[in-house]
Amino acid sequence: MSEKNNEKVSEAQIAVHWKEEGYFEPPKEFIAQANIKDDKVLKRFSMENFPDCYKEYADMLDWYKPYTKILDSSNPPFFKWFIGGKLNASYNCIDRHLPKYKNKTALHFVPEPENEPIQHITYQELYVRVNEMAALLRDFCGLKAGDTVTLHMPMIPELPITMLACARLGIIHSQVFSGFSGKACADRIVDGKSKVLITADSYYRGGGLLDHKEKADIACDGALKEGQKVDKVLIWQRYPGKYSAKTPLVKGRDFIVNDLLKDYKRARVEPEQLPADATLFIMYSSGTTGKPKGAQHSIGGYMSYVTGTSKYIQDIHPEDVYWCMADIGWITGHSYIVYGPLALAASSVIYEGLPTHPDPGRPWRIAEELDVNIFHTSPTAIRALRRVGPDEPAKYDYFFKHMTTVGEPIEPEVWRWYYNVVGKKKAVIVDTWWQTETGGFLCSTLPAVHKMKPGSAGPGVPGIYPIIYDDEGNILPAGSGKAGNICIQNPWPGLMMTIWGDDERYVQVYYQRYNKDPKSKDWHDWPYFCNDGAVQAADGYYRILGRIDDVINVAGHRLGTKELESAALMVSEVGEAAVVPVADPIKGKVPHIFVSLKPGVKASAELEKKVTDTLASEIGPIAKPAKVWIVSDMPKTRSGKIMRRVLAAIANKQDTGDITTLANPQVVEEIKNMA
Ligand code: WT7
Repeated sequence: MSEKNNEKVSEAQIAVHWKEEGYFEPPKEFIAQANIKDDKVLKRFSMENFPDCYKEYADMLDWYKPYTKILDSSNPPFFKWFIGGKLNASYNCIDRHLPKYKNKTALHFVPEPENEPIQHITYQELYVRVNEMAALLRDFCGLKAGDTVTLHMPMIPELPITMLACARLGIIHSQVFSGFSGKACADRIVDGKSKVLITADSYYRGGGLLDHKEKADIACDGALKEGQKVDKVLIWQRYPGKYSAKTPLVKGRDFIVNDLLKDYKRARVEPEQLPADATLFIMYSSGTTGKPKGAQHSIGGYMSYVTGTSKYIQDIHPEDVYWCMADIGWITGHSYIVYGPLALAASSVIYEGLPTHPDPGRPWRIAEELDVNIFHTSPTAIRALRRVGPDEPAKYDYFFKHMTTVGEPIEPEVWRWYYNVVGKKKAVIVDTWWQTETGGFLCSTLPAVHKMKPGSAGPGVPGIYPIIYDDEGNILPAGSGKAGNICIQNPWPGLMMTIWGDDERYVQVYYQRYNKDPKSKDWHDWPYFCNDGAVQAADGYYRILGRIDDVINVAGHRLGTKELESAALMVSEVGEAAVVPVADPIKGKVPHIFVSLKPGVKASAELEKKVTDTLASEIGPIAKPAKVWIVSDMPKTRSGKIMRRVLAAIANKQDTGDITTLANPQVVEEIKNMA
């Protein structure tokens, strides 16, 4: 903290060196067709109208029984929405669309092998398959409302079918990302106390058919060691009628879903009429350390919020072909591949494999073939596609009206490639900032209303009131040039109800820091602490700097790692960049920068110097990296996040810890050998 004669530098006060970027206008053609064409919505969702404004989202759903109270905030921070109301998520995503849209495609499934035909599943077919699966879950597994079941399924249509079958009965699903190990799945089975695991025999990723069933055995063994016995493992076949894994079935425990379903032909299961505050699913946050935190999401609040934001921010109409390239194993996929788009009767694309397989033109061929007009992906995927196929989009004839970026801050340089090359200067872009815990978007521009600004998420979305505090709890106003900790002042329907089985942790991680009175029954005293650093420009737009620990303190000067990386990407040869803090006896910490190069570019001392000079000129001499590491690739999680922790361990000559869940552990060895 402060020294007597030194200028006081608060912990949250991160030096901000980003340059202000210019604005981009939303295209006129987009505005003409948008669901929200003007800013009246902001008035409707103003703080004076809170919480009643959220009725607008709840009214987008069908309710069996209307709610009597919009928000019950009598026991903060445990908020309950749409109290007294009853509904069913599966009914809202399927049944209610049948009169008008039964022959319309609900899901387009694109297998990774390009010679396999795309499957187009209509709303009627989805209805049939979800009913039959629900009957199986009820009658064969004996599952009922309030039970939990763990899913460890890849990107195949049977994943949303299984989720919606669970939702039909009120069974709480907990889907674990398929790229996660059997051990990670075991931890989540134990935490969720599931007796049933639903998985698949195999799936394609990067050109090979992976044996996925072997992870189920590891998961069940691991769970048993922790005292949780899995009674039944249900296995979907990637090729119905053919078992395509090498790992044998365990007798009495493992069952092939495709065989069992024959007994449930034409079964119909009435959707359960469930209370709004019953649990729809658990989703574990993607944190890489500590015990996984299961964000527990409600039916009524969550469904209202993802439906409303899909309509207003994603601008989904029933006519749209919408492709979110995320994995359904993450919250993005739950909210913005499955529940939001299907509640709006859109056609949602599910792609099985790697975006760059067999070549970086693949996404644009899919877009061309299916006439995708809304596209949604992450900066990681955009960087990868830019790195290996910068000129590919121009070769294909597709038209995006709307594009999303989500998951991490996007460097303005990468944003501009997305806009100019992928969007062909015709698509509006939304940079949506949110979290597993928040159910849906927190900050984004309204696509037809606000101007876009590269690198900035934008203002709070309708009904969300962010605020930035410094470490002492002082408000940092817009335009202060100072970064702090971003919080949301008010609760909203998409917010998780709690951390599964750990109310105390929910309070401690997300509220304790800025709650002044733990006894207060007034929601105003319970701002939600996002654990992200952010800065608000004079125009009110928020720029998210990432997790608050992604900050390097160089001789008392606080640098956001993201801004250094962003500057490095201005060097045209650089494909990806990652900055980590390295201990230094004099300066405390110094930055090391890891860069991977675009294809065909060779590493050289000149290039290292170019990166160093660019950081110095863009940010200042203080940002000069002590070392530039030119690497062949970055160590990444299966969801594509660069593992800065691993790079930092190598640069600091420490143990890298467990790297088995990485997508490419071999890169770690290679980088270690450079040290
Ligand atoms: C963390 C949440 C939200 C769904 C996918 C990730 C970072 C997310 C942005 C964005 C800058 C972003 C934040 C956040 N983040 N979106 N548009 N700009 N940073 O969900 O795995 O729960 O991660 O991702 O640090 O806290 P998640």
